[in-house]
Amino acid sequence: MKIFQSKSELKKYISHLKSDKKTIGFVPTMGALHQGHLSLVKKAKDKNDVAVVSIFVNPTQFDNKEDLEKYPKTLENDIKLLESVNCDVLYAPTADDVYDGNVKSESFDFDGLEHQMEGKFRDGHFDGVGTIVKALFEIVTPDVGYFGKKDFQQLQIIKKMVEKHNLPVKIKGMPIFREEDGLAMSSRNTRLTKEHREAAPFIYKTLKKARKKFGTKNAKEVVAWVEKKFKKHPLLELEYFTIANEATLQPIENAEPNKKYRAFIAVYAGDIRLIDNIRFKNN
Ligand code: PAF
Repeated sequence: MKIFQSKSELKKYISHLKSDKKTIGFVPTMGALHQGHLSLVKKAKDKNDVAVVSIFVNPTQFDNKEDLEKYPKTLENDIKLLESVNCDVLYAPTADDVYDGNVKSESFDFDGLEHQMEGKFRDGHFDGVGTIVKALFEIVTPDVGYFGKKDFQQLQIIKKMVEKHNLPVKIKGMPIFREEDGLAMSSRNTRLTKEHREAAPFIYKTLKKARKKFGTKNAKEVVAWVEKKFKKHPLLELEYFTIANEATLQPIENAEPNKKYRAFIAVYAGDIRLIDNIRFKNN
């Protein structure tokens, strides 16, 4: 695997690949890689000539200084994992390299997608995500970008950015990877205490029960049911639970035929914030 820290070196290498007509599959990450990330890299490798991964903990998308400082950094292990799935290229820049010395967010209009859920609770988060992903796309010039559906709102926002800015890249959303007990894989899981780690599968269990209830109850009733469940939980604190239209991310009250819905959740397990989501069937 070729490792680049400098974008000018990486760009030179990419231009050679392009002149050889190689297609590029790209997986942007913040490192602390797990099987979910590796599934994206395998897909990128499978469907393209070259798989490129970036590892960069992007400061502009964090609204919480402590969360940024404590974000797990495991570069040596990440490199081993990437080599184990035959990743071709890793870009692991400093903030100054990727931001050209100006570590600041651009301001984006994602047609309202950015004001729901994560956008309500993490100030400036999606401007930070948009800024870094657009910058990385400009450097890597991928044919396809791969993103996990665990960050479903992020996925929709990136698709919107690509559409609005006419970026020449296809975006693929990939399934959520879960631990055996159902907890969605996340780099933050490694920071959970033993107690919170044991409690955390309650999140997905509750999502699955809520999905069942959605067959007979309206969205408001299901939301109230989930809120009540978490109020009673001694270790997990619900930040939000929303049932929304998949395309617009607008919360709904009643399901309509031929629309796709998804439930979104954010929960604090101690000081670790976990998110998850699940597709709801519309009966
Ligand atoms: O999903 C992530 O890990 C990050 O938000 C991303 C897309 C790498 C941008 O920093």
